[in-house]
Amino acid sequence: MTALKNDRFLRALLKQPVDVTPVWMMRQAGRYLPEYRASRAKAGDFMSLCMNPEFACEVTLQPLDRYPQLDAAILFSDILTIPDAMGQGLYFETGEGPRFKKVVSTLADIEALPIPDPHKDLGYVMDAVSTIRRELNGRVPLIGFSGSPWTLATYMVEGGSSKDYRKTKTMLYDNPQALHLLLDKLAQTVTSYLNGQIMAGAQAVQIFDSWGGSLSAAAYQEFSLAYMKKIVSGLIREHEGRKVPVILFTKGGGLWLESIADAGADALGLDWTCDIGSARDRVGSKVALQGNMDPTVLYAKPEVIRTEVGRILASYGKGSGHVFNLGHGITPEVNPEHAGAFLRAVHELSAQYHE
Ligand code: CP3
Repeated sequence: MTALKNDRFLRALLKQPVDVTPVWMMRQAGRYLPEYRASRAKAGDFMSLCMNPEFACEVTLQPLDRYPQLDAAILFSDILTIPDAMGQGLYFETGEGPRFKKVVSTLADIEALPIPDPHKDLGYVMDAVSTIRRELNGRVPLIGFSGSPWTLATYMVEGGSSKDYRKTKTMLYDNPQALHLLLDKLAQTVTSYLNGQIMAGAQAVQIFDSWGGSLSAAAYQEFSLAYMKKIVSGLIREHEGRKVPVILFTKGGGLWLESIADAGADALGLDWTCDIGSARDRVGSKVALQGNMDPTVLYAKPEVIRTEVGRILASYGKGSGHVFNLGHGITPEVNPEHAGAFLRAVHELSAQYHE
């Protein structure tokens, strides 16, 4: 394997010294980039990009070619590959978001769900990871990812995106054993899926608990965090002679940072609703932090973006343990030049916080 030319992302996740604060953006390969839209048109649709390792590799590398400041690549795929591999039949309606041909509603539906084998049933993802690693040729580390069991369950039970998770929460309160069985199957699947990605070449992994913040404090512990803990304890933590850091991102999890920091991961992803300096005071001795600029700041003028970056860097303060990111994914309406101004500002303004 080629040696990494830029490892500041992995170093910051392990709180080792860095020259500047590393940065990447959630959803960095996506519709705000004209080159992404061109590749998607060539492939036909979004799922064809995901399922063809050459296309997945092409779009993963697009933001890196445009922005030399990016300190990590993230596998181009989707969290919904898992419910698709469980037989739900994922498809995307243009402008409508994800949909499933089959929805999971009853205990019998859940009992019938198979546990996918990452190599047999999700081999296209493993092939994408190894293709991207080869093409990256050590430029920056590659991040693998999965959805959290709770977040995946919301899509599987609702049949797509939802504002209030009404069916999933009804199951949670009326039929908790059924939801626990689903979450347990998902935790087993996510563990082997992420371990498959690590063996194929992912150098860090992130679990997206995008909708954990919709739960009550008690339900979050029992129906989301408990399963992420289980996954973390089953992950391969060292590969190719290096640690493989694990990042947990619960959007809306700011109130529960202390307990999330106890889950055994190396780093926590923060959305923009918490102050990163206060978060560091609360958990900084246990984990590194990733985040947390409001993605809508990227609609503003480059000078304003720079000021916001400076404010977040100052709030975190001196020393390693911070990976700069947005507090959620970059949106399709962002001007790519504004994203560039953001990335440059992180490196330019952060040198003063590192020795
Ligand atoms: O970050 C990256 O660049 C890697 C690629 C990535 C995608 N989805 C590509 C994508 C990652 C990490 C994801 C994760 C994902 N997918 C999450 C968790 C992260 C988050 O945002 O909270 C969730 C909830 C999904 C489910 C999903 N996928 C939805 C709800 C949608 C449709 C809504 C939307 O944003 O359009 C998708 C589609 C999707 N996944 C797109 C991309 C680039 C857009 C599809 C297109 O090109 O038309």
